[in-house]
Amino acid sequence: MRIVLSETYRDMSRKAAYIVASQVILNPRSVLGLATGDTPLGLYHMLISMHWTGDLDFSGVQTFNLDEYYGLSPENPQSYHYYMTHNFFQHINITEKQWHIPDGTTQNVEEECRRYDKAIDHAGGIDLQILGLGVDGHIGFNEPDGKFERGTHFVELQQSTIEANARFFNSPEEVPRHALSMGIKSIMKAKQILLLASGEAKAEIICQALRGEVLPELPASVLQLHPNTICILDRAAAARLMEEGDERLPQHGLEP
Ligand code: F6R
Repeated sequence: MRIVLSETYRDMSRKAAYIVASQVILNPRSVLGLATGDTPLGLYHMLISMHWTGDLDFSGVQTFNLDEYYGLSPENPQSYHYYMTHNFFQHINITEKQWHIPDGTTQNVEEECRRYDKAIDHAGGIDLQILGLGVDGHIGFNEPDGKFERGTHFVELQQSTIEANARFFNSPEEVPRHALSMGIKSIMKAKQILLLASGEAKAEIICQALRGEVLPELPASVLQLHPNTICILDRAAAARLMEEGDERLPQHGLEP
């Protein structure tokens, strides 16, 4: 795993945008794995700017989102469909046929999960997967568990995730209790992974995930086993790793 340090959230987002942009420039038919949440908002903003200045063409790209809340329709402003449409897709040259998000309104969860996995395989697999990190160590909605989940699956959200995501809802009671999420196997199959973490709330968990044992109780720790992962951290998120003096931290990174 390569760790890249950045001073600020903006700097982290810009570096991430250069990596995504180079992927799309080198392979205009790239398959991107996308995340929602606060972390990638700056990245999407930068990619939109690159598109507007004529530097980035998404017309051949396909995208697969990590997850969707169960029970929320695409029109619901709290759904990940809505988030993606408003924060990214409607600002770039991508059509509805090119982007994919699990259907949170499905009547048949098992079938929808299998359909989603097949669609990813049919597209040729994910070239570059963008990930944020939950405060409990989740990636996608793969919550701490006794085992690593395989493909796309139905998830019961942890209380800590419900509380962390309550900021997007009027009250914690409104946060859906379930979601559909790509599994650890789907994520690990991506050819390259770009993990982003920003802010002091992520400092402890990123340190555990990157330095600790690989355990399903800390889902992000599995990324230590992926052959091609880049992790970009801002100064606040890197604080614990810097204290520990992790040998993978770049010499030319931030001054302590
Ligand atoms: C979102 C997702 C989640 C978030 C994580 C961090 O699609 O899969 O794993 O990446 O909860 O969320 P933020 O970025 O809001 O801190």
